[in-house]
Amino acid sequence: MQVDGSHFRSIWLADAKPEVLVIDQTLLPFAFEVRTLSTVSETALAIRNMVVRGAPLIGATAACGLYLAAATDSAEANLRDAYQDLLSSRPTAVNLRWALDRMLPPLLAEPKSTRAELARTLAQQICDEDVATNSGIGDHGLSLISEAANSSRDRAVNILTHCNAGWLATVDWGTALAPIFKAHDAGIPVHVWVDETRPRNQGASLTAWELGAHGVSHTVIADNAGGHLMQQGKIDLCIVGSDRTTRTGDVCNKIGTYLKALAAHDNGIPFYAALPSSTIDWTIREGIRDIPIEERSAEEVSHISGLDNETGKLARVRIIPEASSAANPAFDVTPRKFVDGIITERGTAEASEKGLVALFPQEAETRTV
Ligand code: MRU
Repeated sequence: MQVDGSHFRSIWLADAKPEVLVIDQTLLPFAFEVRTLSTVSETALAIRNMVVRGAPLIGATAACGLYLAAATDSAEANLRDAYQDLLSSRPTAVNLRWALDRMLPPLLAEPKSTRAELARTLAQQICDEDVATNSGIGDHGLSLISEAANSSRDRAVNILTHCNAGWLATVDWGTALAPIFKAHDAGIPVHVWVDETRPRNQGASLTAWELGAHGVSHTVIADNAGGHLMQQGKIDLCIVGSDRTTRTGDVCNKIGTYLKALAAHDNGIPFYAALPSSTIDWTIREGIRDIPIEERSAEEVSHISGLDNETGKLARVRIIPEASSAANPAFDVTPRKFVDGIITERGTAEASEKGLVALFPQEAETRTV
C-alpha cells in the first residue's frame, strides 16, 4: 500500500544482512517509523507488544523470526527454542502456529549448512503468498460489495468494520479491508463506519489511518454506537477479520466483534468475516470451548494513549480510579449462526464445516480434529 507516495508492505527482509524491517504500529497514526528486528527475542517481543499485530502479519513475522534464528545458529536445538519463543508470543491467532509449522519441518530436514538460506526463502514465500491471498479475498469480497451497491441505488454502500483488518494486519491488502480498497478503486462509492475498538483502539488509530491514506470515506465511532446505527438503517453490511476460525465456522476476532454480530443479526444486516485459510484451525470444532482467549494487561483498559495537543507529544493517561481493577480479554468468539459468510481467497463459504471443507478439502483432510 502507499504511504506518502511510496509503496510499503508491513514487513520485509533486508537485502544484505539477516534483518527484518517492520512498521512500528504502536506509533501510528502520529508517527510512521520503521523498526529493525535482528534477533528472535526482539521479534517475539515485537509480536507480544503489538509493534506488529493482526493474525496474518503475526504469522509472517514469526516466519521471519525463525529465519533470523537460522541465520544466527542453525542447530536443531536453537531452531526448536526459537519456535517455542515465537509460538508463545501471542496465544489466539492460529496463523502463528501455521507459519512456524510450515517452516520448522523442512528446515530440520535440510543439511545444517543450507538451513539459513532455505529459511529466508520460506519466510519470503510466506510473505509473498499472504499478499496474493489477501488480494484474492479482496476480489471475492468485492462481488459482495458490488451486489450491495446494486441494491443501495444512489447512496454509498455503508460498511461497518471492527479492529484493524487492513494492510497493517497482514503483509499487504488486508482481509476485511481488501474488498473495501478494491471497491473504492473500482469506483463503487463506499463509506466505512470504523469501530474505535477499545482498549487498544486499532480501529481509531490504524483503520482510520489506512482508509484516509487510501482516500476512502469513513467515520470513526465509539464501539457502542454500531447497534444504534444499524437500527437507524445506516449500515448495509459488516465485514470483520478473524484470528482463529474453527473448522465449523465459529469466528474468533477482536473483543467486541460478537456484540456487533448480534446487533447485525437482530437488524437483518449481513455479517461477514474475511480471512485467509491460514486462519482456519482445522483441529477444533467449538470456538467458545476450544479457542484460547488472550488476556492482556489491565493497564490497556485503565490507561489510554493519544496525542497531547499542548505538547504535541504522545501522552498516556489513567481513566479509571486508582483503586479499581480492570480486566482485558482481547478476543471473543462469534458463533457460526451469526456469521452470514466467510470470505476467503477461494471464495465465500457458508459458515459451516460443509462450507469450509468444500473450499479447502485438502487442508481439512490433512489437519483433523
Ligand atoms: O490484537 P490484534 O490487533 O492483533 O487483533 C487483530 C484483530 O483482531 C484483527 O481483526 C484480526 O487479526 C484479523 S486481521 C486480518
